[in-house]
Amino acid sequence: MANAVLNSLESFIDVLPWPAAVVADSGQVTHLNPAMEAQGLRLAPRQTRHVRSLFPEYSAALQSDPPWLTPGQVSVERQSASGPVHERIHTFRHGSQSGMIVCDETRWRELEVGYAQNARLASLGFLLASVSHEVNNPLSAISSMVQIIQSKRGVSSEVRQKGTSLIAENTRRLLLITRKLTSFARVDDTVRTRFSMDTAVDEAFLQLRYDSMGETVGFEHQREPKAIVLGYQDQAQQIFFNLFLNAAQALKGRGTISVITECVALAEVSVTVSDTGPGIPEPYLTRIFEPFFTTKPSGDGIGLGLAICNEIVHEHGGSIAAKSNPAGGALFQLRFPLAVDARRAKP
Ligand SMILES: Nc1ncnc2c1ncn2[C@@H]1O[C@H](COP(=O)(O)OP(=O)(O)O)[C@@H](O)[C@H]1O
Ligand SMILES: [Mg+2]
Repeated sequence: MANAVLNSLESFIDVLPWPAAVVADSGQVTHLNPAMEAQGLRLAPRQTRHVRSLFPEYSAALQSDPPWLTPGQVSVERQSASGPVHERIHTFRHGSQSGMIVCDETRWRELEVGYAQNARLASLGFLLASVSHEVNNPLSAISSMVQIIQSKRGVSSEVRQKGTSLIAENTRRLLLITRKLTSFARVDDTVRTRFSMDTAVDEAFLQLRYDSMGETVGFEHQREPKAIVLGYQDQAQQIFFNLFLNAAQALKGRGTISVITECVALAEVSVTVSDTGPGIPEPYLTRIFEPFFTTKPSGDGIGLGLAICNEIVHEHGGSIAAKSNPAGGALFQLRFPLAVDARRAKP
């Protein structure tokens, strides 16, 4: 009985909960299952239609030629009457026929985006609380100084001079904080695109060359062209720029920054950034991602670089960790989900 069912591709796909079709080697669709018919597609008895006319989006997305003969899977984004639909198309061979199954991933995608937004809001709340706390001190100092200078009883020129330089110093600190945060602020929240992680890395390194600290450091990059991520390339570039700038500062311009991009664990992009500097002391490894944690003298660093990296990475559904590098120097390990379209079925 089981064999009889499996022997007929038509009977097999008829019991599937997903829309599916049988395609002959000629490219003619010969059968649609009930789930496909429930979507409004019909074939009259003994009627066939070519897969290109019945499913133009799917056959265009399946890149092999002719697409229905090659087992594989591909993601398709198309517009339906109720909005954008994300589907994953699976093709497989059975005897002299091919089967095509359509899995709707729209809900899953919505959940994924929703989760990323919640995670962003939660960690943004933490960053915001730290920023208000940090901004409060210089603002209170400025406010008190202004009150003293405006005192009706008058102030000595020495106090006035000290007061204005204190105001100038605190204003400079506030400007550093707001500038750093402005570069993080998103202009357009909606447009996520697929981008190459290698391009973001390379662009960030070009940007580092304009910094006096980055002029002389060496750079090695092991690329992976298949490392495609869904998100914001300029933001990813900012992650790497912050990491490279820290490395260049630790290297004091002498040494090498190495980046290894890889596709790992089926659907993840791994980026390892290491340098040949003094490294990060063990007790700091987890603290360095806290907003305003810095070991640099005031003026050189305000401790927002890695906090912002952390935000951006989480916004992309990824993770970032600092490790002690057995070879010496600092090592940052980043993971991002591979863009759905870049996930290919194993041959
Ligand atoms: N490549 C590195 N080598 C050594 N220490 C590092 C490196 N990257 C980051 N750090 C440490 O992490 C701290 C926080 O970095 P960051 O958040 O960028 O703030 P900032 O650079 O303003 O200090 C730095 O002050 C430094 O102590
Ligand atoms: Mg920094």
